[in-house]
Amino acid sequence: MGLSPFRRTGFLAQESASKSNGSRARHSSLKNRSVILGLLAAIFLFAVGCSKDGQSTWEAFGPVAQKQLDLFNVLLWVMVAVFFLVEGVLVYAIIRYRARPGQPKPPQIHGNTTLEITLTIIPTILVLGLGIWSVFALFELQDPPKGGPDELLVNVTGHQWWFEFEYPDAGNGKHIITANELRIPVDRPIRLNLESDDVIHSFWVPKLAGKLDMVPTRTNKMWFQADSDKINEELPVTLFGACAELCGLGHALMRFRVTVMDQADFDSWAAAYGPPPTNTDRAKAGQQLFAANCTLCHTIDGPDDPALSASRLTGFLTGGDITPVPAPNLTDLRTRQTLAAGLMDLSETNLRAWLHDPEEIKEGNYMSARAVLYQNGTVSLTNEEVDALVGYLLDLR
Ligand code: CUA
Repeated sequence: MGLSPFRRTGFLAQESASKSNGSRARHSSLKNRSVILGLLAAIFLFAVGCSKDGQSTWEAFGPVAQKQLDLFNVLLWVMVAVFFLVEGVLVYAIIRYRARPGQPKPPQIHGNTTLEITLTIIPTILVLGLGIWSVFALFELQDPPKGGPDELLVNVTGHQWWFEFEYPDAGNGKHIITANELRIPVDRPIRLNLESDDVIHSFWVPKLAGKLDMVPTRTNKMWFQADSDKINEELPVTLFGACAELCGLGHALMRFRVTVMDQADFDSWAAAYGPPPTNTDRAKAGQQLFAANCTLCHTIDGPDDPALSASRLTGFLTGGDITPVPAPNLTDLRTRQTLAAGLMDLSETNLRAWLHDPEEIKEGNYMSARAVLYQNGTVSLTNEEVDALVGYLLDLR
């Protein structure tokens, strides 16, 4: 039987040997191939795990992720030790005491009390110890430590298929609603209230904390913090997050970013949050187009009016073909890195492509499905009009 998985041993054997030989060879070739595929998959998974910017839980950037990683490491290595100990004894016994030809029947015994008590006590101590420690860690991670820096509250809402971030007070009473890019000051606990407007999503920033479900009609709470002494890079640093619960067609396209900034940078972003400037001609033209076509779903001049948000949600949940839907707040779009829930970099070219045919970029999105502009599948605007909208959304001067 060939060791090389891609030599078609099964096929060759069939021609030269009997039927049963052929099927044995085919079986072996299949087995070899499975082994090679398994190895390739393992190498691939290992390589993915090594990616530097990936969503890795092995690189904790804050106290919550660190505690969870410590817990995981101890549980893992204790279990690895137990596994090798038990399997080692088992394999030893199988080989050492295997049946040999002509051997008489071994003496039959009915247990060993000392051994049985020992083998009950050791696992009990292990399981209780790890269990109690895990439960205490859970309680400890419930709230940020008392007496630390001020918390920053962020309400996060999951939507099909993007994330909404609301800061009731980002500093000096500033109310901010943004989407898909969470900005947080370094070394401050961030308190998160997680909700959902439609189906169950799951909020996950692997380098900051474990995942937590976002469930309609209830608020799940968590917190995390990014520590400057754990981040060996110049700030701002961008971390990756994703939805970790299958939530429909766009689930895999529901990404977000967390940018860790100095408090001063965060403050200037918060202070600048507000209606976009309309200094260029195309921005002025775009402003009118936006008002006429986009404001049913999108807000661009500050936080969304709660009454408007509620009516959009009602429209969406009860709606027919064309209704308003909860849509990303675009007020600070020009300061973001990405478009379409982290799918592509923010640039004029990409924004133009997105406005022309969102479905091509993000299948199942509600903009092309519900907005009046997209009734026929493609946008009913001229290239100049799309360009004006791009100008209104991105022009700075
Ligand atoms: Cu939202 Cu998966």
